[in-house]
This record gives sequence, C-alpha cells and structure tokens, in this order.
Amino acid sequence: MNKNALLISGAIIVAAVGVMYFAGLFTQSGGKMAKVNSQPTVKVVVPKLGQIAKLGEGDFNANCAACHGKNAAGTGNGPPLIHRIYEPNHHADAAFKLAANRGVRAHHWKFGNMPPQSHVKDFELVRIVAYVRELQKANGIF
Ligand code: HEC
Repeated sequence: MNKNALLISGAIIVAAVGVMYFAGLFTQSGGKMAKVNSQPTVKVVVPKLGQIAKLGEGDFNANCAACHGKNAAGTGNGPPLIHRIYEPNHHADAAFKLAANRGVRAHHWKFGNMPPQSHVKDFELVRIVAYVRELQKANGIF
C-alpha cells in the first residue's frame, strides 16, 4: 500500500467512526426525549442488595417502576419512594400492601390517584418492601 492509499483509508476510518459517534449521540438524545416522563426525580444510591431485596427489585420493575421509576427514584407518572415521606415511621410496611390492594387517593403529590395493583401477590409485596427499605436505608431514609 502506498502512502496516499494509507492516508485515504485512514481518513475513511476516522469519518466512519465519527458518523457512528454522532449517530449514537443522536439516538441517545432522541431516546431521552421520547422518555422524558421516565426521568428520575431524585438521585438514588443503589446498595448491594440482599437476596430478598434482589427478588423485590424484579417485582418492583415489573409492577411499580412505570410510575415510581427505576430504583424507585420517581417519574413523571408517580413519586419517588426513596423520599422522606415514605420513611418507615410515616409509611409502615402495611401501607405498601394497602396501596397495592386498594390503590391510593392522591394526597401528597399532584400525580393523581394510584390505581390498585391487586394482581401483585402478597409474597411479591413482601419482597418489594424489602427492596424499597434497602434503597431507603442506603439513601439516609430510615
Ligand atoms: C399507575 C401509576 C402507579 C403504579 C403502577 C404504582 N403506583 Fe404507587 N403511587 C402512585 C402515585 C401517583 C402515588 C402518590 C399518591 C399521592 O400521595 O399523591 C403512589 C403512592 C404510593 C405509595 C404511598 C401510599 C400512601 O399511603 O401514601 C406506596 C407505598 C406505593 N405507591 C407503592 C406502590 C407499589 C408497591 C407499586 C407496585 C406494586 C405501585 N405503587 C405502583 C402511582 C403508582
């Protein structure tokens, strides 16, 4: 390969990487814009979860995260549960069961009512509570 051919293929590689980079940025910002509602409302430190809490994370993501957000950090549809309001003294574990079984009338926030999540089983709620409490604890809420 002569010098010119080398330069040209070098330039092509640089251009290709550049295009991929910007395409990546573009889809990323596009994705973010489309999901504005799922942006977390609080910053949550995620600890190493215990076994039960780890299972709870799966249950939470399947049933609660659409509104309460990944890591319970909140979304445009529902409040963060990693919040002083939900410390165990104010919202005991039973409040989670009640919330899931009966739903919640809007009273702390402006997101509207929480519809009942009565398809969620008791054992799943136990795991969800374990998960939320571990997250709360790691974030100074206890
Ligand atoms: C469709 C959205 C939505 C889903 C799904 C949802 N929630 Fe909620 N939840 C809310 C909203 C909105 C509130 C806040 C109501 C208020 O106080 O204004 C809330 C409040 C709560 C509260 C506080 C109850 C109280 O007594 O103040 C708990 C606990 C809770 N949710 C747990 C859960 C759990 C556990 C799940 C999953 C099994 C879940 N939520 C799924 C929207 C949702």
